[in-house]
Amino acid sequence: MAQMHKWWQTGVVYQIYPRSFMDSNGDGVGDLAGITQRLGYLEWLGIDAVWLSPVYPSPMADFGYDIANYTDIDPLFGTLNDFDALLHEAHRRNIKLIVDFVPNHTSDEHDWFVESRSSRESSKRDWYIWRDPAADGGPPNNWTSFFGGSAWQFDEGSGQYYLHMFDVKQPDLNWRNPEVRAAMYDVLRFWLDRGVDGFRVDVIWMMIKDAQFRDNPNRPGWKPGDPPYARQEGRYTENQPEVHDVIKEMRSLVDRYDERVFIGEIYLPVPQLMHYYGHSLDEVHLPFNFQFIELATWSASTIRACVDMYEKALPEGAWPNWVLGNHDRSRIASRIGKEQARIAHMLLLTLRGTPTWYYGDELGMQDAVVPPEMMHDPQGKDNPQHSRDPQRSPMQWNSQPGAGFTQPGVTSWLPLSQDYQHVNVQVEQDDEHSYLTLVKKLLSLRQSIPALTTGSYTSLDGVPDDCFVYIREQEGKRYLVALNCSGQEQQLHLDHARQGNVVLSTFLDRNDQVELTNFVLRANEGCLIEIDD
Ligand code: NOJ
Repeated sequence: MAQMHKWWQTGVVYQIYPRSFMDSNGDGVGDLAGITQRLGYLEWLGIDAVWLSPVYPSPMADFGYDIANYTDIDPLFGTLNDFDALLHEAHRRNIKLIVDFVPNHTSDEHDWFVESRSSRESSKRDWYIWRDPAADGGPPNNWTSFFGGSAWQFDEGSGQYYLHMFDVKQPDLNWRNPEVRAAMYDVLRFWLDRGVDGFRVDVIWMMIKDAQFRDNPNRPGWKPGDPPYARQEGRYTENQPEVHDVIKEMRSLVDRYDERVFIGEIYLPVPQLMHYYGHSLDEVHLPFNFQFIELATWSASTIRACVDMYEKALPEGAWPNWVLGNHDRSRIASRIGKEQARIAHMLLLTLRGTPTWYYGDELGMQDAVVPPEMMHDPQGKDNPQHSRDPQRSPMQWNSQPGAGFTQPGVTSWLPLSQDYQHVNVQVEQDDEHSYLTLVKKLLSLRQSIPALTTGSYTSLDGVPDDCFVYIREQEGKRYLVALNCSGQEQQLHLDHARQGNVVLSTFLDRNDQVELTNFVLRANEGCLIEIDD
């Protein structure tokens, strides 16, 4: 009997970075009403869920990841009424809405921190991580911030240091304190009661720090100019055993509501990542799988190795997931080039597991060129090369000035990518060979072919080194995905079946019958082939 799957297992997730999706009021920054206006596009495209990066009141030191109030909306983005309207309209169109939950740290302007910093005797002092200076007056230990420099900031008024694993304006909460947990669980309930379909939890694997505050080992070979977050191993600041209890508590709360999804942002090697499903699958539903984002080389053998290894490592009953891009890393089309990005999208949408991609990647958008004087991101403050601004440029809707993101004549908060006049929704909707047309077709095939969502996965040996080939199968229906990860034509001789029909080529120009014992993939071509039995 066919197993019943949840919406977040069969669906695809589309990440929106709200500042950059659609500006409805002409201030150069995207907002909630803008997203609501554009839901028709998302429905047309065929996505199932939107994950919204933070929209809560924030001084914007880290563009919303520094939250000053967890249960309201920043006026820049609108109001709670605008949020409700977005949620209502999304649901009317059968689109789920996942919100960002940022439990590791607040803004230093959050009332809790203002109170905590007011004196050592404050009732909220222990809500954050305060330590005395080291014997020499310096920081309590060697921990460094993801954005560079020490993770400790001295507070003159109370004579102690507070911990901030990110910006100095993002003090870390003390999750060992039960009052912090209770307050944050109220936040989860607030949004669940409002009707959101789940959470993506920011840096969930970092919420608990070593109780003894031991020094982290430095990463050998790190040198100034390398990414600041790679400077140390997070031995005592990340992946602490006690974090699993907190995650279980959160999950049991979320489980009291129907059909909500709980996703964790976790950058860890696959074996450790798997622990976040929980022993009894009682932690996160989907620990984000960032392997494609982190791949050092994009080649058939590295991709196959990471997919096979991940499939093998999955605990019994755990649901896989794949992420192609996000607001923290360079866009896929910039990382691997536009030709291979099409292959990457076919891969993402034909693998087993929930796919997540980043707004605009369905157009083949590339990182924008952002001159240093227009950069905002705190991660780029010591070294513009590590700024995340280029991948956060405004969505490209049309060829008009402002790209349909904002009104003509308005300066957007980040510059548009130079290619917006030909890489945009309007142009690509009218082009039967465009990247957008490819993604839309992939999504509709994924919806109509059960083997692609819930079928088994088997990768094939005996194919050219530059090709990654696998079969998705369900109830006797077999589909072959053949990806040419190189710029040269490849000849395949498969002995699994004799013939098949090309259902989709990444070039969108063939639907031929092929002899599987002898068929050709053009340079940078991927094909989805229905196997004749
Ligand atoms: C991860 C988020 O994705 C990133 O954008 C942010 O800077 C850090 N967490 C801190 O919240």
